Formats: sequence, C-alpha cells, structure tokens
Amino acid sequence: MEIIIKETSETTSVMAARLVARLVREKPNAVLGLATGSTPLMLYKELVRLHQEEGLDFSGITTFNLDEYIGLPRDHEQSYYTFMWKNLFSQINILPENVHIPDGMAADVPLACAEYEQAILEAGGIDLQVLGIGSDGHVGFNEPTSSFASRTRIKTLTRQTLKDNARFFNDDDSRVPHHCITMGIGTIMDAGCILMLAFGEKKAEAIASMVEGPVASVVPASILQHHARAKVFIDEAAATQLKRADYYRWVYEGKPDWQLDA
Ligand code: GLP
Repeated sequence: MEIIIKETSETTSVMAARLVARLVREKPNAVLGLATGSTPLMLYKELVRLHQEEGLDFSGITTFNLDEYIGLPRDHEQSYYTFMWKNLFSQINILPENVHIPDGMAADVPLACAEYEQAILEAGGIDLQVLGIGSDGHVGFNEPTSSFASRTRIKTLTRQTLKDNARFFNDDDSRVPHHCITMGIGTIMDAGCILMLAFGEKKAEAIASMVEGPVASVVPASILQHHARAKVFIDEAAATQLKRADYYRWVYEGKPDWQLDA
C-alpha cells in the first residue's frame, strides 16, 4: 500500500484526479470502478473540470459503481444512481450505455448481482477502482466480517453505517434503507489498481486499522494490504492515528520523478 498524505482534501483529490485522468488518456476504453459518498465529490469535480476545460474524453470509458441501496428507485434523490448522474455523468461525455450501477429495485436480487459480475467480466475487468472508507472500515457496503472472497450480493448495513448516512436522509437513520447491493471484496480486489480517498478525523481510526492493523474481516478495508497496487490518498486529519505517518511522508518526498504519477 502506498500512503500519500497531503494537507487538504482539495490537494489530495486533485492529485487523485490526475491519476484517473492519466489512465483515461492512456487507455481510452478503460473501465473505472466508482464510489459514492461525500469523499469522492472533489475528485469528480476535478474530473469534470478536466473534461470541460482540457477536453478529457470519457466517450470510450465504461464505469461500474460499487453499490446501491435496495428499495430506492433510480430517481430517488438519495439513490446512488442520482448521485452519480448529478455529480459526474451528466457533466462529462460518457455514454449512458457504458454506465453501470447496481439496480436497487431489481425483482430478483441474486440474478441482478450475478449479471453485474458478468458485465464486469465482459467489460474486461476494472482497471482502476475508486474507494472511500466507512468509519467502521467498510469498503463499498462490505460491512465488518464480510468475506474477503465475496462477490456482488445483498448486504445488511450496520447500525453505525445507518447513523453515518442519516445525514443524507434528513438526519433520520430510520429512513436509511437497511439493505444494499454491493460489489464484494473479491470483486474489488480483482481491480487492476485501487485508489482510496479518506478525509477528516472521523476516518483516522479506520485508516490506521486498515494500513497498520492486522488483515482481518472485522476491518474489511485491511484486505487492501494484499493488493499489489493500492494507493491511499488522505489528508492530515485522516492520518492522525497512523504510527508510521512520518515514514509514508518520507517515502513520498523521496520518490524519483518518474514514479510520481505512476
Ligand atoms: C457509504 C458508501 C461507501 C463510502 C462510505 C463513506 O457507505 N457505500 O462507498 O466509502 O459511505 O462515505 P463518506 O465518503 O460520505 O464518508
């Protein structure tokens, strides 16, 4: 895992966007795995800017989102479908047929999940997966004790996640759907590279457990220690509980120029 600590979430997001943009330029038919939540918003904003001001071309790009709430129709203001179209897709030149988001209203959830996995395979696999992290260490909606071998499936959210996400539902955790469809940890681990973002002190404990704790399913994100190409972009606040933060900074400062954007 490579840990990149920057002063602010803005600087961090712009750096992360540069990596995504580089892939989009080098592989115009790349497959991106995308995340929702407040964390990737600035990354998406920068990708929109790169498209609108610098002509970054998404016309050949395919995307797969990590997750969706079960029971929210696409046009619900808190569905991840709405989130993605509002914050990214409507502002770039991606083709709607190349966008994939799990269907929270699927009549047959196991079938929809199997088809989602198949679609990822048929697209050639995910080249780069954007990830946030839950305060309990979840990735996608793979809550603590999720199997590291899991594939796209239904999950039940923890009470902590319902509480964390209540801010999107008028601060009322009883309105947050209890179930979701999420890519599995196995699905996420198959991505060619992982780009995780985490900001703020609320994420500091989860980040420290993920990076420096044991690999254990109680901290789902800790499996990223086994991914050969995982980059973790965090701000200073999210780095406060890392015991080896100075080492990560030293490594980054000493990187040869040719390695900086790799
Ligand atoms: C949700 C999403 C995750 C996201 C997490 C953190 O539970 N399913 O993909 O990483 O929340 O959200 P935020 O970025 O708003 O802190």
